[in-house]
Amino acid sequence: MEKSIANRLRLHVREAAVHSRVPYSGRSRAALALMSDNSWTCGVRVENASYPLVIPALSAVLASANSIGRRDITALVFSDRVKLEEKTMIQQSFTGPMEQLAEDILGYPGSINGPGDELITGWHFPDKLDTATGIRIARQATQNAYIPESDFPVGALVVTRDQTCYQGVNVEHDDWTQTLCAERAAIAAAISAGETNIQRIYVSCPKAPAATPCGACRQVLCEIAPEAIVWMDRGEQTAECFRTLDLLPRAFTLN
Ligand code: THU
Repeated sequence: MEKSIANRLRLHVREAAVHSRVPYSGRSRAALALMSDNSWTCGVRVENASYPLVIPALSAVLASANSIGRRDITALVFSDRVKLEEKTMIQQSFTGPMEQLAEDILGYPGSINGPGDELITGWHFPDKLDTATGIRIARQATQNAYIPESDFPVGALVVTRDQTCYQGVNVEHDDWTQTLCAERAAIAAAISAGETNIQRIYVSCPKAPAATPCGACRQVLCEIAPEAIVWMDRGEQTAECFRTLDLLPRAFTLN
């Protein structure tokens, strides 16, 4: 791989690391996924007071890419050296193990010609996004769910104060503990893009329309978007809406 290409990728991933949400460790970290057409996107570390719920940068970028239907990752670049657990996760997630091309880069050799354009994961909604539209997009997103373990698709749509939207899907892993729910995938995409003001989240579970966000997602929502409104898709019935803080009274904090 050409040195200048590697350095340009490093520049992008280090810029993205600034968006890390790391109030507990202060250790920013980002991962960049390069796609087969040389477009790229980044994911950042998103911490939670409940440490086991931290979203690692690698999970964030894999979730963001999957959520918009992109699975054609050819290389991963980290804002710091690759960790052993990241190598393991990547080996389990991709066909044909990616090779370590530099201390901070894993990829399929010969496939890296980028970087090209940034892959934009969010889009601005000029008009007020009504409930029916939010739900329709969350429902549509379920088609991107990566669900080899459960065959249970979930879709989510996060909306920020200025009406920028980020979709999320559940992304499963054969080590179930590394699976990310759709709600957290959407949150990770928004934070990775530098958003800080999430106001609404629409969630669609077509196979269990009476479902509500799991406990882990509630904990993460309470910390990141305590004022947000959560809309649940009820299929044929009217959607139901909750305030985040009502979904998890007395959420865990470190204070
Ligand atoms: N799941 C979500 O995406 N959101 C939730 O709030 C609950 C569960 C996903 C995780 C897993 O892929 C599948 O649904 C079954 O648990």
